[in-house]
Amino acid sequence: MCGIVGYVGATDAEPFLVDGLRRLEYRGYDSSGVAIHCGESIHVTRAVGRIQALADRLGPTPRSGVVGLGHTRWATHGPPTETNAHPHIGGDGEVVLVHNGVIENFQELKDQLTAKGYAFKSATDSEVIAHLIAEGLKVTPDNPDQPNTKYVTAVQWAIAQLRGTYGLAVLFRERPGLMVAARFGSPLVLGVGRGEFFVASDASPIAGRTDRIVYLADHQVAVLTKDGFSVLHKDQGKIRVDIQPLSVESNDVDLAGFPHYMLKEIHEQPESLRNAMRGRLDDENATAVFGGLNMTPQQIRTVRRIILTGCGTSWHSALVGEYMIEELARIPVSVEYASELRYRNPPIENDTLVFGITQSGETADTLAAIRETKRKGHRTLAINNVVGSSIAQAADGGIYLHAGPEIGVASTKAYTSQCCVLAMLALYFGRMRHLSFESGQRIIEELRMLPNAVAEALRCDATVKEIAAKYHEASTFLYLGRQYNFPTALEGALKLKEISYIHAEGYPAAEMKHGPIALVDEHTPSVFIVPKGTTYDKVVANMEEVKARGGPIIAIASQDDPQVQKIADDVITIPDAPGLTQPIVSIVPLQLLSYHIALLRGCDVDKPRNLAKSVTVE
Ligand code: F6R
Repeated sequence: MCGIVGYVGATDAEPFLVDGLRRLEYRGYDSSGVAIHCGESIHVTRAVGRIQALADRLGPTPRSGVVGLGHTRWATHGPPTETNAHPHIGGDGEVVLVHNGVIENFQELKDQLTAKGYAFKSATDSEVIAHLIAEGLKVTPDNPDQPNTKYVTAVQWAIAQLRGTYGLAVLFRERPGLMVAARFGSPLVLGVGRGEFFVASDASPIAGRTDRIVYLADHQVAVLTKDGFSVLHKDQGKIRVDIQPLSVESNDVDLAGFPHYMLKEIHEQPESLRNAMRGRLDDENATAVFGGLNMTPQQIRTVRRIILTGCGTSWHSALVGEYMIEELARIPVSVEYASELRYRNPPIENDTLVFGITQSGETADTLAAIRETKRKGHRTLAINNVVGSSIAQAADGGIYLHAGPEIGVASTKAYTSQCCVLAMLALYFGRMRHLSFESGQRIIEELRMLPNAVAEALRCDATVKEIAAKYHEASTFLYLGRQYNFPTALEGALKLKEISYIHAEGYPAAEMKHGPIALVDEHTPSVFIVPKGTTYDKVVANMEEVKARGGPIIAIASQDDPQVQKIADDVITIPDAPGLTQPIVSIVPLQLLSYHIALLRGCDVDKPRNLAKSVTVE
């Protein structure tokens, strides 16, 4: 939540900052701002609303200044007003900073600083850090031999007093060429260019400007000037850090001709699924292979229980994973909301493996759940899309999704890639135990067919558009499916809710009779996920029950299914896909349905109200 950018170099900073903020806008979009060091002073511009509002305020000619900061906000403390927008100013203007994270002891610090005479303008927790650094400058002696040291020390002095999370970038009025960045619990990367350096919450603003990146870790402070950068650790002093190649191409974050990122990402799924599987299917041994689990086959064989944890859509993929792993590997699986797991104290046996599933790798609750279970001595693994993210650093090992940047706030391609990775994991664990070679071969074959099946499912777009036109004014939708398609129902409902603001509920189809059926009337569409498979007849019977009560039915069904065609008012057909891969195919029309309905309702598909892409606060 919230996005940060920073630039130190030889060309005007403002164009990079504004472009970078546009690329980070998915992280929060209620207000934004930039600060440019103009030599003698630091000039701050802020605006409420989208980045375009800030760009309009800045005007067509960039302010001259080669060092600057920018921020796009998702409000935590204080409403989205111009005063609460970042950058924040500390002292009498000697410090200007942007912050991502939450400071838990901000009130206590604010009281202390107020007593010392600091005047607060905003209701944010971030302004506290700006004043605290200004106070740090007062209590830190000058060092004429190393003039930057005073400023770095002041930041270190201030952050030592913070409780909570922060990704920070700081400018100092008296040191025009200097920027200090710091990280604890909120992501921060450095881009290493030639004579220019970048700071950002993730790699997307940097892509296209440099292909060398440093993923800062917790407790690290970076010191940047146009001549170079150094990194200090809280306890170890100056440290060496790895500069890694940046794999995000700048056109990965462009719209590539699509009107919205969400639509682009829905259409990228055949490719993102191929990327999830690339190099991971081992025909010779009829299994899957993973490079980063950091576990020996012997350790894998001793796993007696698996916990899958995540939030939102990632929690839904965990539910799909539960069916997959239990079916193929016969290992008991529990799925936990990360926000609950982190505060519960469930009995977890020693031979339990805990997976944190997350697109961003930054979700506060998932990260905390992984840290807490790791602290209790359990082996933790991450299934994650963002290389170098916090969870990748916190877990004992993991599997990257390789889905490419997901910018649309509603998760689509990350979800299907998560399900695909979980299917491969189920195969891997199964083959380590009792799953036969032939079954392994069959599953590999099914997985290989998956990208084409998804590509075929995408052809339903025109039909989905017509159905969206028919139902977009409904105020409630029910989504119903069984077994592998129960999580599909939950995910379909979540997609609709979050981008079209229509109330929607997902249920196991048979549960409908235990309450939700009371919602059924001629104005409440029920979306049944009813492809041919083991529970097909049962779901058809549930459809009849809804039809008998006058409820409109939209069915996601296999091609050539006269029975469903007869019962349903509208049918979207999907290609046949066997059990394990079915939920990955059947979610596609539901993603498109929510997209088209949201468009027809005039909603901002990529940036739905009140949401942000990575939820880095609990
Ligand atoms: C819904 C959605 C959210 C996220 C959730 C977890 O479309 O995107 O529900 O799935 O906030 O985010 P990650 O996967 O980044 O941990």
